[in-house]
Amino acid sequence: MDQLLSTEASAIPQVSKLIPHMSYGGDYNPEQWNENIWLEDARLMKEAGVNLVSLGIFSWVKIEPRDGEYDFSWLDRVIDILHAHDIGINLATATASTPAWFVRKYPDSLPVEADGTRLSFGSRQHYCPNHKPLLAYTEKLVRTIATRYKDHPALKMWHINNEYGCHVSRCYCDNCAAAFRTWLQERYGTIEELNARWGTRFWSQQYGEWEEIQPPRKAPTFCNPGQQLDYFRFMNDSLLNLYLTEKRILREITPAVPISTNFMDFFKPLDYFRWAKEVDVATWDSYPDPREGQPVRAAMMHDLMRSLRKGQPFFLMEQVTSQVNWRDINVNKAPGVMRLWSYSAIGHGGDGILFFQWRQSRAGAEKFHGGMIPHSNDENSRIYREVKALGQELKKLNGLIGARTPAKVAIIFDWENWWAVELDSKPHNDLPYVQRVAAYYNECFKRNIAVDFVQPSDDLTAYDIVIAPMLYMVKPGEAENLEGYVSGGGTLIVSYFSGIVDENDRFYPGEFPAPLRKLLGIQVEEFDPYPQGHANTVTYRGQAYGCSLWSDVIQLEGAEAVATYTGHWYAGRPAVTSHSSGSGNAVYIGTELDADCLGALLGEMLTTKGISAPLSAPEQVEVLQRDTEQNKHLLIINYNQEEVCLDLPENEDYVNLLTGERVSGSITVSGIDVAVLQY
Ligand code: GLA
Ligand code: ZN
Repeated sequence: MDQLLSTEASAIPQVSKLIPHMSYGGDYNPEQWNENIWLEDARLMKEAGVNLVSLGIFSWVKIEPRDGEYDFSWLDRVIDILHAHDIGINLATATASTPAWFVRKYPDSLPVEADGTRLSFGSRQHYCPNHKPLLAYTEKLVRTIATRYKDHPALKMWHINNEYGCHVSRCYCDNCAAAFRTWLQERYGTIEELNARWGTRFWSQQYGEWEEIQPPRKAPTFCNPGQQLDYFRFMNDSLLNLYLTEKRILREITPAVPISTNFMDFFKPLDYFRWAKEVDVATWDSYPDPREGQPVRAAMMHDLMRSLRKGQPFFLMEQVTSQVNWRDINVNKAPGVMRLWSYSAIGHGGDGILFFQWRQSRAGAEKFHGGMIPHSNDENSRIYREVKALGQELKKLNGLIGARTPAKVAIIFDWENWWAVELDSKPHNDLPYVQRVAAYYNECFKRNIAVDFVQPSDDLTAYDIVIAPMLYMVKPGEAENLEGYVSGGGTLIVSYFSGIVDENDRFYPGEFPAPLRKLLGIQVEEFDPYPQGHANTVTYRGQAYGCSLWSDVIQLEGAEAVATYTGHWYAGRPAVTSHSSGSGNAVYIGTELDADCLGALLGEMLTTKGISAPLSAPEQVEVLQRDTEQNKHLLIINYNQEEVCLDLPENEDYVNLLTGERVSGSITVSGIDVAVLQY
């Protein structure tokens, strides 16, 4: 498997050059409809400005109705109709759900849960990633589809599978157990090394032979953390291997056609930084709850998507026009909200806006899920009118394609750290990693400060401030990288419960936070996790603020205290510290500061570094910058019901691309409206 996990060195298709316009469209499932609707679909798509549809995602059984018998006649007709209407296709490889005949022939292709339950056919994504015949059938299907359509002018992109791991992210069957042993042998070489890495002297867990090793199935109590962590890695690799199996075939047959697969919102099981190396464009599916108002978490995810490929624009591959079907209560989006959220995606680096799905289904589990054409099939429906208006409007934004987001602040986000820090049996077992990251992100978001996400081993020199929330796991080379960043002049912020374990979830020898101790100039003597409802206070710049969840009891070893605890037995001891190193400094935040304190602290650092928003704006107004070689752009998104007026820098003339108007001095943006200024 490891041989497959390599990044290509050769030239990859440049999406912004191949698709030099804003992509607009959605998932298209024509097999759910009689053919007489297809022409009507194409007409309405064209009217709505649709130029790209994801086709055939769940079409395996329609393409291969019986083992080895292919029927492409229907797909040929659909593609020709779309092409005749200038609509490109993001052609799916149709592997997202195996057909009933396949499952009947290979019942052992059904995945098994940690408790031994084998899942059944009847919904979707019911496959084990290490099932050999599945890989063989997948290869054959993908090769057949690619060979048939490789020269079709409508083919713009490949959509491999769908949302890998969404429903079944880990399989615990015997096929997987065997593949896991091979994976471990490749990783560790000897059983002695594995025993050392997993710390199996504990609880008599030592292994004598590879065959004794099992996946971390349901066990009497906590499974070995090293074993769990490696199983997460192995399952990530297993699904990635499935993806790469398809990708190799597509690249061989259509080397110039971009390839992607759609990612999901902060999806823990898959390390998207690794996956992103293997896609030509990052794409993701965003479904914030309309009850949220301003979708901050989606903004954070957009930024992560843009960062996965080092600033390359992403595609919003799916969103819903109004309401989904899978929440307890599926609230709809009020008029204008879908448009606003689409612009937010563009502002954060999106070059494509697509929906799930084109036409609302008549039957099946998702029939209450919205579509671009609602069930009423009414061209005058609010939904279709909004879809059409947005599609027409986005044609004005082709100048933004490929535009980059300048960011001076980066937040470290690391999937393996996420897996490790949320394993069981910790001092505090309710500290979701993404929430810790979000606390820092939100303070930047509120201030309209652009944020990139990075990995701890990345080159950080482009950033003035780097934030490492809860970096519990520090892998080889990472501490040195952070040290180099700080000594070169960077400001690093590290938060509590960082620098605790190595890549196998073993403590580093020496006092906490061992690998970062010198850099931070502190020692953490004790952890004090707070029960629900308990809190403490800190003093920062003479003012009192709240803190909760956790406090580190800190001893200074060269750092100075910036804030101190005012309560508990460690009152008066440092809560936040700062340590100069080379020409930079490393700040440690030993507790969960309330938003006011974090805001004050971060605000001060941003000012010191001269980092500010592109424009100053009232609350609930996003200001986002995207630059091409030719032009700069400001996207101003007003989530308020009331209009807002923003001052613009003097000596600069702008054009509002949406209205064509020239603007200078200031700009007024109506409630629930947006402006895109080019200059
Ligand atoms: C996901 C899937 C789609 C559909 C939507 C519904 O994003 O990729 O097939 O199920 O959810 O929201
Ligand atoms: Zn399996």
